[in-house]
Amino acid sequence: MTTATAIIDISTLVTNDPSLGEGPLGLIQDAAVVIDGDRVAWVGESSKAPATDSRVDAGGRALLPGFVDSHSHVVFAGDRTQEFNARMSGRPYSAGGIRTTVAATRAASDEDLSANVAHYVREALRQGTTTLEIKSGYGLTSQDEARSLEIAAAHTDEVTFLGAHVVPPEFADDPAAYVDLVTGPMLDICAPHARWIDVFCEEGAFDGDQARAVLTAGVRHGLTPRVHANQLTRGPGVQLAVELGAASADHCTHLSDADVDALAQGDTVATLLPGAEFSTRSPYPDARRLLDAGATVALSPDCNPGSSFTSSMAFCVALAVREMRMTPDEAVWAATAGGARALRRTDVGRISPGARADLTLLDAPSHVHLAYRPGVPLVAAVWRGGELI
Ligand code: NIG
Ligand code: FE
Repeated sequence: MTTATAIIDISTLVTNDPSLGEGPLGLIQDAAVVIDGDRVAWVGESSKAPATDSRVDAGGRALLPGFVDSHSHVVFAGDRTQEFNARMSGRPYSAGGIRTTVAATRAASDEDLSANVAHYVREALRQGTTTLEIKSGYGLTSQDEARSLEIAAAHTDEVTFLGAHVVPPEFADDPAAYVDLVTGPMLDICAPHARWIDVFCEEGAFDGDQARAVLTAGVRHGLTPRVHANQLTRGPGVQLAVELGAASADHCTHLSDADVDALAQGDTVATLLPGAEFSTRSPYPDARRLLDAGATVALSPDCNPGSSFTSSMAFCVALAVREMRMTPDEAVWAATAGGARALRRTDVGRISPGARADLTLLDAPSHVHLAYRPGVPLVAAVWRGGELI
């Protein structure tokens, strides 16, 4: 007996599998998708759909893979409205504001912190994000980082240790001692709870040598690197990320030609976070330059209370198209398959047989509407692991 469900009458289906349909998005018009348990069992034209127990009528709307958000900082407490207001009056963004959130996060109870994370995970899911990476980085003591990771792990398999977010105030006079802590006792406690290791390689955070020490220590503990790189300045982050085989270099806003070449030639995904440029009133990363050079590009909202307080991937798609010279197809790919590449996942970011049944139904006939209709809540339904949310 089958438990399969067919979703029929899909106007445009984005499979992200070029062998199944047209172009890099593998588009199929008048399509159907069969879900069996938590997996996609069949994909094709509606008229050829196999018989199933139940059917859902998509009503001539578009279906795409659930968004894969490879970069978030949702383990936090507190609020930075004032800092945002000051920026919108002309004050520049600096990494210093992170310490405001560190103080609030340390003071929060486990219950409050967990409730906050659950809130933002749910908020992202309602907007079509079915895979969400979550970083620590607002604890910055061994205990607070470990509890941040444990709370994150209750919601996702994609947990990232970011003890090297900034140097906390109590180490301001001795940053080297903080790097020793992060690469020593803190890593020992945190590594078992994480898959990834990240570092904010930037002026005012960690320089190239410190970032290398953090990432290589993480690798020795079985973690895979990803790097906050070249967000505010042309630093060494991108080159370091590619050299160490990081899964992604995130931000990539200030790039030299050599940085672009390195990303084009290496396996490191360039993850662009246009919500950060929006919310810090900064120039956007040049996605066109990266794509034309042959780099793999992912998009993420970078949800955090400081530089980018949005969980909306649809907003990032619209920004990428309007401000970063991406085509709608490129932006939708980057928000789904690109995120999956950045997390080295093959089971998400596509709708093809064997993939996890993570699906986003739009209240629109085509995925292009995500950019064409900016700011409109187009997500009509979301399935995660075959379950209708
Ligand atoms: O990705 N750049 C470093 N970390 C975050 C910002 C964190 C904050 O301002 O609280 C980011 O933009
Ligand atoms: Fe970030």
